[in-house]
Amino acid sequence: MKTFYIETFGCQMNVHDSEKVAGTLLAQGYTQVEEPEQADLVLYNTCSIRDKAEQKVFSRLQQFKREAGKGKVFAVLGCVAQQEGARIFDKAPHVSLVCGSASYTRLPAMLVQLEAGERRVTGLDLDTGETFETPFTRRDNPHRAYVTIMEGCDKSCAYCVVPFTRGRERGRTSQSVMDEARRLAETGYTEIQLLGQNVNSYRDPSPAGWDFAALLARVGEIPGLRRVRFTTSHPRDFVRQIVESIDANPVLANQIHLPVQSGSSRVLERMQRQYSRDEYLERIGWIKAARRDIAISTDLIVGFPGETEADFEETLSLLDRVQYDSIFSFKYSPRPNTAALGLDGQVAEEEKGRRLTIVQEQQRAIQIRRHSELVGRVEEVLVEGYNQATGQWIGRTTQNRILNFTHASGNGHSLLGEYLPVRVTRAGPNSLAGESV
Ligand code: 5AD
Ligand code: SF4
Repeated sequence: MKTFYIETFGCQMNVHDSEKVAGTLLAQGYTQVEEPEQADLVLYNTCSIRDKAEQKVFSRLQQFKREAGKGKVFAVLGCVAQQEGARIFDKAPHVSLVCGSASYTRLPAMLVQLEAGERRVTGLDLDTGETFETPFTRRDNPHRAYVTIMEGCDKSCAYCVVPFTRGRERGRTSQSVMDEARRLAETGYTEIQLLGQNVNSYRDPSPAGWDFAALLARVGEIPGLRRVRFTTSHPRDFVRQIVESIDANPVLANQIHLPVQSGSSRVLERMQRQYSRDEYLERIGWIKAARRDIAISTDLIVGFPGETEADFEETLSLLDRVQYDSIFSFKYSPRPNTAALGLDGQVAEEEKGRRLTIVQEQQRAIQIRRHSELVGRVEEVLVEGYNQATGQWIGRTTQNRILNFTHASGNGHSLLGEYLPVRVTRAGPNSLAGESV
């Protein structure tokens, strides 16, 4: 019996790719194990969005180097695989398989080559035009399912590796997305998260020709689904119709992630983001004008080359203006192949750290204030877990907030996967606490 172990770094796209890879391996007769020591085949699905993420895989490979002698096969998948290619064999000679996400459909064939005794196999073709779909996908979460609608990215943000690691945009047919979503709903999934590097630029390759707003609205009508989310959006391609669809159908969750990256139009231009601060704020205006209370989150980079103190203050003023429900903020990290490498005005590491701390403190205060306004409200949660230590259930609201709660009826039956009304009794910066009603 052949066994495999897979560890995933990076975004939801990667998490879902790993579910597909695991399903593919299971269909090939492998069994999944929980520890790398027990596996014949060890796979790392990697991320290279920032240098720190990239270093993780090399430290893992270093850690288990000696195991390679015992017949264990090591594989590097995902964004570092695509970015570094065969150079990975030089850095970590015990690796046998290097494969980027655009070549995953070839994985079964590559495994056959390895089993036949080939020492080194690569899948690095970036322009395959393929979307990796499998009928075997083995999903980790029994209630929320990720569904890929498109892969790749055609934008050229000056800081970003994704166009180099995931290739050109390619959409999946609306028919195939709808069929999978219906099948998931029939088998008991109640939440679906539509995935793509830029879902807003989704184009149905079939004659039906749906755009993203149309696809989103149709998925939201599938019987059995309670929540539909999507990630990630690009402001340039974000249209008002998406907000209108959400407004019209409560199944489409009250949550939009709209990465801004900077509050300064000058920096946005240098980043090649293709929108200005005002154009971004116009989209925020659409979302805030909705009848539903749609939570807004964002991604931010501080210390992009050429970012002055005045630019940075514009980011702070944007945070004040938008009042985000949550943010993900990062220090700019120079990446191979990207346009920003050649820009002057690199910001010192220490200064990036200072700006990041300021951003995070300001946002923390905003979240504490916004969360405190929720105390007393009743929110519907999907129950996702149980915390033994605190005796609290872990729920998630339609706005994607974590709401930890106690539940009176002590008959011990599991609440996992249920939708329950919970009254908010306490607010912290990153989560809420409450009791079921
Ligand atoms: N340095 C820092 N952050 C980055 N991101 C993307 N590329 C970089 C980089 N080179 C951030 C962006 C993006 C998120 C997924 O990661 O904010 O939206
Ligand atoms: Fe990391 Fe970006 Fe690749 Fe996702 S697409 S794994 S965030 S580099």
